[in-house]
Amino acid sequence: MSGGADVDESRLLIVGLGLIGGSLASALRFAGFEGQIVGCDPNPDEIARGIEMGLIDSGGTELGAQVADASLIVLAVPVLAMETVMKTLAGALPKAAPDVVITDVGSTKAAIRACAKRVFGGVPANMVLGHPIAGSEKSGVSAANPDLYRHHKVILTPEPDVDEAALARVSALWAACGADVLEMSVEHHDHVLARTSHLPHLLAFSLVDTLARQDDRLDIFRYAAGGFRDFTRIAGSDPVMWRDIFIANRQAVLSSLDDFEAGLARLRKAVEQGDSDALIATFDRASHARHYFDTLLNKTTYQAEYHMQPEGKVTYRVRPGGQAQGRLRVPGDKSMSHRSIMLGALADGVTEVKGFLEGEDSLATLQAFREMGVAIEGPHQGRVTIHGVGMHGLKAPSGPLYVGNSGTAMRLFAGLLAGQAFDSELTGDESLNKRPMARVADPLRLMGATIDTAEGGRPPLNVRGGAALKGIDYDMPMASAQVKSCLLLAGLYAEGETRVREPAPTRDHTERMLNGFGYPVSREGDTCWLQGGGKLTAGPIDVPSDISSATFFLVAAAITPGSDITLEHVGINPTRIGVINILTLMGANLALENQREVGGEPVADIRIRYAPLSGIEIPVDQVPLAIDEFPALFIAAANAKGTTRLRGAEELRVKESDRIQAMADGLAILGVEHTVVADGIDITGNGDDQVASYGGGRIDSLGDHRIAMAFAIAGLRASDDIVIDDCANVATSFPDFVDLVTRVGMTLSVEGA
Ligand code: S3P
Repeated sequence: MSGGADVDESRLLIVGLGLIGGSLASALRFAGFEGQIVGCDPNPDEIARGIEMGLIDSGGTELGAQVADASLIVLAVPVLAMETVMKTLAGALPKAAPDVVITDVGSTKAAIRACAKRVFGGVPANMVLGHPIAGSEKSGVSAANPDLYRHHKVILTPEPDVDEAALARVSALWAACGADVLEMSVEHHDHVLARTSHLPHLLAFSLVDTLARQDDRLDIFRYAAGGFRDFTRIAGSDPVMWRDIFIANRQAVLSSLDDFEAGLARLRKAVEQGDSDALIATFDRASHARHYFDTLLNKTTYQAEYHMQPEGKVTYRVRPGGQAQGRLRVPGDKSMSHRSIMLGALADGVTEVKGFLEGEDSLATLQAFREMGVAIEGPHQGRVTIHGVGMHGLKAPSGPLYVGNSGTAMRLFAGLLAGQAFDSELTGDESLNKRPMARVADPLRLMGATIDTAEGGRPPLNVRGGAALKGIDYDMPMASAQVKSCLLLAGLYAEGETRVREPAPTRDHTERMLNGFGYPVSREGDTCWLQGGGKLTAGPIDVPSDISSATFFLVAAAITPGSDITLEHVGINPTRIGVINILTLMGANLALENQREVGGEPVADIRIRYAPLSGIEIPVDQVPLAIDEFPALFIAAANAKGTTRLRGAEELRVKESDRIQAMADGLAILGVEHTVVADGIDITGNGDDQVASYGGGRIDSLGDHRIAMAFAIAGLRASDDIVIDDCANVATSFPDFVDLVTRVGMTLSVEGA
């Protein structure tokens, strides 16, 4: 690692050569740090061991003797030893040494700041307090580990008047160890750490101690299973260090203990009363929150976490050629999956969903409702049971609701949350945080909601609770089902009637599902409306396969000579079948079989066999009906004879990526002739099924699931490998995409980090 080169310190002094100090030295050495490292520890054996291990160049037991010429001093001693160390330091440091930077690694910050104030008469500008969130139950320099800080967080808690250069030097020190450095206030740090670190240690110490005092302790420990081992590992930690932490962070720990005791009391009661609903609700919430928190903190996507792949590091390699054969069922419809959870949560009664999409987007919606107190069981193989809380039963979430990559979740939630009694905040991932939200915030404000957005109408959205909403008559400036649905959901809570006019038909799953839950939504022509103040009644929901996911296989078959694919149980709602209409116009051989209606939505098996395609002018009225299908349709166009022209599709520029540009960039790499315009694209193919349609190359999906999947399918007619970067987000809508493309006869391998 080259990071060590960025640490411009001539002499680093580590005071306290235990696990933390020793690992810092070890990590810096590994990173190529070439300055001197000096250790100071009351135990001469630790110093000798540090030298023997090659971690420090020299050291001793007297701090005063080690300070000379140090450029950066790291205090890595137990919290309660800090005052003595600081006093010695104050006496030993030359008065005019403003370039010497001091930092620490203590687990509580207010106590250490107070100590610095006592000793130095204020926190010196060259002192940057910090805390690496890493450790181990092991102690001593022998346990030093060069990877201890890699991909861990280091929190710095600088004072407002800190010397910026000092802050940058401490930051660089930790960054060189592979850590993610972030800043927060001392108070926030102590509050958060009391809950995430100090409380669990207290519980582990307490459990082991309680059991160790019992008469049958030998049996208990002898037969203890993995659960005991996992839960109590940290009870083997350094007692002195932890004593100091609990003394130093007393108030914050006591308050976290109060919350914990209240939760424990609730569970105790549930066990006592055999209250199965309360137990399942708590365990289910906790179990999913456990996975979800990892996702959030590690910045990995929900699904990626299961596969242990860091986000953005998933690359697809598609071999040229292959087949498109077979019968398959793609996952459940994303739009309906979101809505099933939303309406199920607000309904009276229990909603059983089957066919639910276990993709990250809909899972984010599900998790958000759990955080608002809704008991939800599953998903287990597409089955979800939602214990509805009624229109006014949601509880305030304890923090921001994170909806990942999902524009649908954020926009629909905006409407729904505008009607709640509590304040809320909606955030998302990097892609979502760039997408426009004024399209929902503006009309919601007209209804009386108070919503703040970040600059340019972007997320996060802060929604003020308790607003008295009023129905509006809204003429949508763009054809968007998300905006329409947002307003209808807000309308449930508004006084009077909420009417939405759409400039072109958009998917109507919200209207259909509301009707299915017994909430009347009317429609006449281009306008739909509902009356506020009603209620939803739970019922079963059968989510059909997502036509947007099916599209990749429709296009695969449409471009591959000899292909024959049947996609089972696909939703063919008239507001979603643009892809069927467009492919048919291009000459695809496509048939709808076994048409039926399932839970208010039309469904069919779609059979598609190869037939040569021709370029067409895509009818503008089909654009909203195929809005998510264009990346794949562009690949169909690249295989068709002649030019396919798309216009009126400016909405594609504000999806998970700018899909016109992202596709154009990829097509350029493959060597496909095309011309980009503001609201569309012209794509020209050779339509010759005897030769490959284009070359291969390396393509950036920009983290957009549909761009990644479209170029994967393109491999069927490429002359060379197509390598697609940044594919982790395929899991947002189509978690088993790779399995299914392999099953139909393509060769796609996944290369992880
Ligand atoms: C969706 C509506 C569409 C679509 C999105 C899902 C929905 O967005 O692109 O993937 O579930 O309502 P717009 O309505 O903003 O076009």
